[in-house]
Amino acid sequence: MDGETLIRVEGLTKHFHVRLGAFGERAATVHALDDVSFDIFEGETLSLVGESGCGKSTTGFALLNLHRPSAGRVVYRGRDIAGLDEKAMRPFRRDLQIVFQDPYSTLNPRMTVGEAVAEPVRHHGLAKGADVATRVAALLADVGLPARFAARYPHELSGGQRQRVAIARALACQPRFVVCDEAISALDVSIQAQIINLLLDLQDKYGLTYLFIAHDLAVVRHISDRVGVMYLGRFAELGRRDQVFGEPLHPYTRALLSAVPEADPEVERNRRRQVLQGDVPSPLDPPSGCRFRTRCPIAVARCAEAVPAFREVRPGHHVACHLVGEGVAT
Ligand SMILES: Nc1ncnc2c1ncn2[C@@H]1O[C@H](COP(=O)(O)OP(=O)(O)OP(=O)(O)O)[C@@H](O)[C@H]1O
Ligand SMILES: [Mg+2]
Repeated sequence: MDGETLIRVEGLTKHFHVRLGAFGERAATVHALDDVSFDIFEGETLSLVGESGCGKSTTGFALLNLHRPSAGRVVYRGRDIAGLDEKAMRPFRRDLQIVFQDPYSTLNPRMTVGEAVAEPVRHHGLAKGADVATRVAALLADVGLPARFAARYPHELSGGQRQRVAIARALACQPRFVVCDEAISALDVSIQAQIINLLLDLQDKYGLTYLFIAHDLAVVRHISDRVGVMYLGRFAELGRRDQVFGEPLHPYTRALLSAVPEADPEVERNRRRQVLQGDVPSPLDPPSGCRFRTRCPIAVARCAEAVPAFREVRPGHHVACHLVGEGVAT
C-alpha cells in the first residue's frame, strides 16, 4: 500500500457482559472481538466480510470509540483514542464518521433535509449565518441532490435519496475516515451501484479512507483495496483484494468465496461450492484454539490446542491458520 497508516489497531478486544435466563440470573460474556490487530492506510478502502455476528460492526464502532473497547489500542494519527471520554474525543469526532444501513434510524423525521445537513455544519462551527445554507447546498450537490431537496422531510425521499442525505451529513464534518456499515445493503441493486459510485467519487475528491462493511462479496471485490475476513470475533485473513479473492489461504475464506457466483457462465457451471457445515458457534463460549476448527474441513488436533497466530505469510497477506504454509492448506 502506498498510503501512510491512518489508524493502527492493536489487540482490540470487545466483550459484552450480558445476563441470560428468563430473569437475567446468569452472567455471561459475549466475545464480540478478540485481540484484533491491523492497520488502515490513508486513502484506501478496507472491507470487512464474514458471517452475521462475526464482529464487523463491533470493529467499526470500536474504531470510532462509539463502543469503549475492553482492551487494545486504536491509534489514530499517532494518538490512542480507545476509551477516550467524549470531551477528549471532541477534536477527533469530526474526522471519524459513520454511515449506517438504515438512514431512517439516523435522520430525525421532523427535520428537513436542509436542517439535517446543517446540524453537523453548525455543531462543528464549519459555517455561520447565511453561509450555512450555501454550505448545505454545496453538500447536497456533492451527493447528487438538487438544492430544492433541502425543504423535504425524510419520508418524502426514496431509500437511495435518504442514504445520500446520510452521506451528506457525514461529509459535512469534512471527515478523513468513514465507516460504511452495510450502507448499501438495504437498497435496490441499481440504486446500490449509484451509491457505490457516489462513495468512490467522494473518496477521490476528498481523499477519504473507508472501512466498508458488507455482505455482498461481488460489491466488496469491486470497491476494495484490501479485504479482511472475520470469523467469530477474530481476523481469519487480511490482504490486498487480489490476494484474498485470487489466492485465498484460509479455509474459511475459501468456503466463503466459493459461494460467490462467477460472471462467466462456463466458470460458473464448473464452480465447486464448498458448503460450510453447521452453524457459527456461540460467541458466549467460542471454541478453544482456532475458532473455525469446528467447521474446518482440514482441522487437526493442534487446531484445538493453540490459537493460530495472525501471520504475514506474503507481503501484505496475513492469515491465522496453523496449516497454511505446511503444504496442507496452500
Ligand atoms: N450491545 C451488545 N450487547 C451484547 N452483545 C452484542 C452487542 N452488540 C453486538 N453484540 C454481539 O457481538 C457479536 C458481534 O456483533 P456485530 O454486530 O459486531 O456482528 P456483525 O459482524 O456486524 O454482524 P451482522 O453482519 O449481522 O451485522 C454478536 O454475537 C452480537 O450478538
Ligand atoms: Mg453489523
